[in-house]
Order: sequence, then structure tokens, then C-alpha cells
Amino acid sequence: MQMEGYMGKGEAMETGVKKGQKDRKAWKEQTGTAARKKLEETEKFQERLNRHHDELRWLYMELYENDSMFAELLENMKAFWLERNEALKTRDESREADSGWYRQNDMLGMMLYIDNFAGNMKGVESRLDYIEKCNVNYIHLMPFLDTPEGRSDGGYAVSDFRKVQEKLGTMEDLEDLTAACHDKGINVCMDFVMNHTSEDHEWAKKARRGDGEYMSRYFFYDNAYLPSLYEKTVPQVFPTTAPGNFTWLPDAGHFVMTSFYPYQWDLNYRNPRVFNEMMYNFLYLTNKGIDIVRIDAVPYIWKELNTQCRNLPQVHTIVRMMRMISEIVCPGVLLLGEVVMEPEKVVPYFGTVEKPECHMLYNVTTMATTWHTVATRDVKLLKKQLDIVNLLPKDYVFLNYLRCHDDIGWGLDYGTLETEGIGERSHKKYLNDYFQGYAGDSNSRGELYNADPVTGDARFCGTTASMCGIEKAGFEQDEAAMERAVRLDVMLHAYMFMQSGIPVLYSGDEIGQVNDYSYKDNPLKAADSRYIHRGAMNWAQAANIADGDTVVGKLFGKLGQLERIRKREKAFVSGADTWTVETWDSSVLCIGRYYEGEKIYGLFNFSEFDKTAWINETDGDYVELISGREMKACGVDIPAYGFYYLKKI
Ligand code: GLC
Repeated sequence: MQMEGYMGKGEAMETGVKKGQKDRKAWKEQTGTAARKKLEETEKFQERLNRHHDELRWLYMELYENDSMFAELLENMKAFWLERNEALKTRDESREADSGWYRQNDMLGMMLYIDNFAGNMKGVESRLDYIEKCNVNYIHLMPFLDTPEGRSDGGYAVSDFRKVQEKLGTMEDLEDLTAACHDKGINVCMDFVMNHTSEDHEWAKKARRGDGEYMSRYFFYDNAYLPSLYEKTVPQVFPTTAPGNFTWLPDAGHFVMTSFYPYQWDLNYRNPRVFNEMMYNFLYLTNKGIDIVRIDAVPYIWKELNTQCRNLPQVHTIVRMMRMISEIVCPGVLLLGEVVMEPEKVVPYFGTVEKPECHMLYNVTTMATTWHTVATRDVKLLKKQLDIVNLLPKDYVFLNYLRCHDDIGWGLDYGTLETEGIGERSHKKYLNDYFQGYAGDSNSRGELYNADPVTGDARFCGTTASMCGIEKAGFEQDEAAMERAVRLDVMLHAYMFMQSGIPVLYSGDEIGQVNDYSYKDNPLKAADSRYIHRGAMNWAQAANIADGDTVVGKLFGKLGQLERIRKREKAFVSGADTWTVETWDSSVLCIGRYYEGEKIYGLFNFSEFDKTAWINETDGDYVELISGREMKACGVDIPAYGFYYLKKI
């Protein structure tokens, strides 16, 4: 009865054969396309590899003399390239075609702690609109990889490079977040903590149990002889919170090198297994959609007896190899070096024009010198520092910032200060007293960090707003003082935007967040005063960003205006000529910028008194970009803590 569905045997066979042929054809086409695609991808990889192969091999052999480990590295690089998703590959290609993409005037960064900002990764994703309102198109997500609670150094002690801290989300959440950011034109930066692992990392656990293979990935010593030799030349990073560079492990009967906290074990990059595995971690993470990799504590990654174990030539070999590896596998990714050192040590991390290392570096001396200028009201040293930076090749991109998650180390040009009779030790003391609010005409609030009773050295912690006087004025309900503090805060941002490079805001600064003293109640944080400026984002306050009558609204509005000007005016591109101008007033800084026929002068008054900048630009009329007022660029009167952006008409 089921005649309709009936087919004779012959017919069925014929149909089956035809179907089989069709399937095979489709299958052939499909696999043909897949195979072709794979071939094309392999060719692309090969083409990029060819560009760097000889130099990469040369450097690798110089350090490791190990052919098979080099071959393994190349194989894995290829595997990571094949795994890289299409969207990221397209991004890579467009960036390869426009290698200066990050040197425009539209880049504005913000660094934030995921939990403080929005609870977890999904939370950050839901707050991207706010980030856009801040005109930010690059976010630095502070360390989010797995780390033991209470022994994390703010996430800089990583126990698993391939796992997100559970409270913050998952690797899938990270991929979703980076994709959502990319849709909005936002770049994502993360830390790659390559100098050390947490003592809870599986390598460390195995090493502690006496597994030689893993012990060789760290620096293990069964007696104090070599550690004591190292201690003779290696300075201390945390002299009070974590003195010494070695930790005794009673259960293992060994010392292990720990330049930072005792639970952060230094990795031994003499071992090619360490280098290779860390490069695989690096590529794994960039494949999750990371655009900017901040190489944490990079100067420390190579150790050598009888040296300071900082900035050794092998560090540069490693960074150069990383640059080539990323140009081969993920050319859209930028390397940002964390080199918190004096300028002559920082600049070599850019490499050379032919053999570049990092794409970007922190402008740390300028940052510290800025706060010195706030405390002294004397722009001389800052002018000199800016002149040094301005003379560097335009390819070098600096990240400019007022505050970050770390302390301020007072790394100033003491040679110059000493010619004026200002001694290093007494000046550091003055700056620390000033910013704690004890000395000079100070309105600042904050705390010391790692005060070393032996050297007398101490660093400083506090938010931008607190250092500018917003905390004190708020506490004292002093409106005039608040007005002054807001002016100083805005002026400092205006000046930062005028520097060459990319400005990075510290999350919360856009709404003037003050110090958070609650870390003292948490025994896991109390000893580390950096937590004073790592408070949670105050969203209740942020609700006022559009209300110009509030401190929050004033700051947010003014910063927004400056950010829009910076993005609009081409004299702000990284490659613009930048120079300083003598103003004949010790408190007024003048920076000039010129690009393709457009010229802008920025004038910044670092004192609480009205001043006149005795510049003498008689080449015609200028317009002040904030007020729209026409002005001359000579004998310019500037109010206390005021500033102007004068554009030549
Ligand atoms: C970097 C981080 C700092 C951390 C250190 C150790 O300097 O900025 O916060 O303590 O590395 O990883």
C-alpha cells in the first residue's frame, strides 16, 4: 500500500550511486577548498617567516645552540597561526598594510582592574558604552589570569597562563570581550608576566617536589653561596615588603630566586624550554584577541652573576625574538615594554629602526618629573626631560600617563638637580613629605611605599585626584580649594595630552576618584600601600558625569573636551614635531607641536598664582581651542593652574 514511497531496487541503486557521486564531488570540492585554504595559510606563514627566519635562528642559536628546540618553536608558531581566527587574521593584514596605525592622534588608553571596574569580564563588556563616552579606544585589563588569593601581587603572580581567574570569568568570556571591543574599535591590552610564575604554577609545584626538569626552569640552589654572591650586586625591588632576592624553601631544602615577592619565582630563560613554553603562552593569549601585550618587568628577565640582573644584553635578544615571533604569527599585535628605569635604559627597548623591539614604552621619567614639577612649581627639569624625549626618533611611541597602578619611584635626573644644590636623598624626602601633605604648600594626600630605612629611599602612592588636592578640599568642604584642585587636575591632563605619544588614563581619574583607605582592613592587602589607588570604581559618582555643577561633571566634561580636541587636531599625531619654548617664568611650561602646516602651542601654569608666559611668537593670530577666543601668542597671561591650547590661524 505504500506505493508512493516505493522504488524498485534498480532505481534505488541508481539514485544511491548518483547520490554517492554527488557527495563525493561536494566532499572533494570542500576538502579541495579546505586544503587550498590551508596551503594558502601555510604560504602566508612561510612568507612572514622568511622575512625573519635567519635573524630569528641566529639569535636563538646564540642563546641556546639548540636546533631541535628551534624547530619545535617554528612548528608551534605555525600551529598557533593556523588556529588564529579569521577576524584576527583580517585585523593583522590591515595593520600590516598600515604599520603606523597606532601612531595617530586618536589613540587614548585607560587602564582598569576588571573586578574594580565592573565585577567581571561580562561586566566590562556591559560597560563598553561608558568606555566609549570616555573617548577611550584602548583598554588595559589589569592582570586577570589565575593567581592564588592573598599571594597574587595584584595578579602579577600567575599560576596558570591559560586560565582566567574564576571570579572574573573564563577564556571564552575574554574572547567575547575582545571581540565586542573590536566591534567598537577598542583595542585590548593585557599583561604578560614573563619574568616569574607564582609558586602555585604547576612547574613550581613540580620543582618544589624535587623534579630536576622543573627545577631547571627556575633558579634553585641547595646552599647559600651563590645566592649570597647575587645579593652583593642585585638591588632590591621591594626592600621592605619583600626584602632580598632569594627565598629559602624548607620543604625543598633549596633557595629559589624571587626578585619580587617570595611567592613569585623568577624563571630561568637560559633554559630554552622556558623560552619556548612562554612563547606558546604568549601566542595562546594573543589568539584570544589581545591587541597590546604589556611585557611586565621586562628588564629583569635575564640573570647573570656579578651584575645587577637588569637590562642585560640577552634581555634585548629575547625581546627582539618576541617581536619577530609576533610579526610572523600575529602581526596586528603591539608590544608594550614595562621598563621603569632612567631614560638611557628605557630607550634601547625600542631596538633600532631595522631591528625593532617594543612598539611602545612608558614615559616613566616624564611622569615622575611631572609630579616633581607640581611639588616645586618649577618647570626647568621637566622642560629638560621633554627636550630629551622630543629629540628621539618619531618612530618611538611613548605611553604618557599621570598615574598607574604602581607607586611613583622618584626616578629623576638628580645629576641636573645636584648642579643646583638639590641632593637626591633630601629631595626624595621633600617630595614624599609634600605629597603626604606635610611640607610646602601642599594639598596632596597619599602614602609612602616601601620606605627603606637603610637607603632612606621611599616611593609614593595616591590617586591623581588626591595628589591634586581634591580629597583634602572635599574633606574640608572648601569650595575655593576644590576649584583650584580641579584646575590643577585638568591642567595636568591637558599637558599630558600635549606630549608626544599615546595618553593613558587611570580608570577613575576621569571622575576624580580619591584614595581608598579600605585596603588597610584587608589583611591580604594591608602591607601594600599601592592598594590605596586601586579602589573600586564609584558608579554612584559616575552617574554625575553629565552634571556640570558637580566636581565629577566638571572633570569629566573638561577632559572630554580636551580628548575631542586631541583627536580632531592633526598637530597631536605622534609623528608631529614637538619642542619646548622658554617662557621666562619658572612655573609656566610651553610645548609646541607642528604637523603638515598646523601649529599648536600648549601653555601650562604649574603654580597657584596667575602668571605671564613671556613667549614672543609674532607670526600672527592664534585661536585658543578650548574657549574659541582669538589671541596673540606673546606675553600670555595665564591664571593659576590654568592652561591654553593656542592654534595658529
Ligand atoms: C610590574 C608591575 C607591578 C608588579 C611587578 C612584579 O612592575 O607593574 O605591579 O608588582 O611587575 O610582577
